[in-house]
Amino acid sequence: MKRILFFVLVLTIALSTSLFAGGDGEGSGKSGAKGLAVGVVLPTKDEPRWIQDEQRFKDAIKKAGYTVEILFSQGDSAREKANVEALIAKGVKVIILCPHDGAAAGAAAEAAANAGVKVISYDRLIRDTAAVDYYVTFDSVAVGAAFGQYLVDKAMGMDDMAKGKNLYLYAGAASDNNAFLFFEGAWSVLQPKIADGTFVVRNSSEAVAMKGKAMLSRAEQGKIIGQVTTNWDFNVAKNLAEANLTSAMDDAKGEVYIAAPNDGTARAIADAFAADPAVEMFYITGQDAEKASVQYIIDGKQSMTVFKDVRMLVNDAIKAAVALLEGGSPSATGAYNNGAKDVPAIQSEVITVDKMNVKMKLIDSGYYKASDFKGL
Ligand code: BGC
Repeated sequence: MKRILFFVLVLTIALSTSLFAGGDGEGSGKSGAKGLAVGVVLPTKDEPRWIQDEQRFKDAIKKAGYTVEILFSQGDSAREKANVEALIAKGVKVIILCPHDGAAAGAAAEAAANAGVKVISYDRLIRDTAAVDYYVTFDSVAVGAAFGQYLVDKAMGMDDMAKGKNLYLYAGAASDNNAFLFFEGAWSVLQPKIADGTFVVRNSSEAVAMKGKAMLSRAEQGKIIGQVTTNWDFNVAKNLAEANLTSAMDDAKGEVYIAAPNDGTARAIADAFAADPAVEMFYITGQDAEKASVQYIIDGKQSMTVFKDVRMLVNDAIKAAVALLEGGSPSATGAYNNGAKDVPAIQSEVITVDKMNVKMKLIDSGYYKASDFKGL
């Protein structure tokens, strides 16, 4: 209730400051509106996650009767920089940017800063530059910890003496700071259970070599991620899973536990494991609550997802944009070091969803319509 009231307040402020007025971007415009004040740049249209964000931005803005321009970078840092430059040329005052590649986006952020435009890093952290004013994000370490905890709970079940369970690790793109945070969270929960022999990692010699280390440096994380990256690409994920299965002996199959870093890659990896006759059963994680994965969960083809309510992130980004436009500083609950500065940040919580609570968390809550799914 409090959140709704606050959101109404934010939209009222947005109206009075002509926050999202004008522009020829997506969404409906308001006649007589002034120049575009805020632009949004998202990494790609090719993943349902970012279409969710686009839709939720549009929904939030439509309520206020204004327009926001949302551009996609299609996994290309040069295109991302061109998008930022186009928005600067249109006179925006704030850019909400979710970088394709965290470090490469530094140049785009600096172009904005040089033009006096504020930059809000959205979901993914823009790295190694001071030209980032604020960061809105989910608790990405908690996302990874949720993967790990889910797999540990399933492996232990009733049996606290469980040993030798087959574990396959997969990660996101090394160019995405979040991939490290997800991995860090997962490792924090899985590592003690790898060290004590509950799990045996079957697809990363680096993870096996470092199984005794609770805390890994970024470089050490990078070595494991380098062996198990999906690059956030469904085809890379599928090919890697198939390659892992081809080189695994049958005793590394049977009952399998899979840490998959998001829903798109989870579906690709799950399909590969499901197609291997030596895999008798598997548990697989995910995140984003993409509709296709919600259906996979209902059908028993994916075990869980971590639900990140994109509406919260959009609201936080809008609140921050309003504060910056008014010359204030957005409220922050913490900070993330991006290699060049501590970026003030606000962080949203995440929720573990599986077959048991999928209806309650995603349908009854009003996030998705029941009619979008079969067999609920
Ligand atoms: C996001 C995830 C998303 C992934 C791939 C991450 O930075 O936090 O929600 O699945 O990128 O696009």
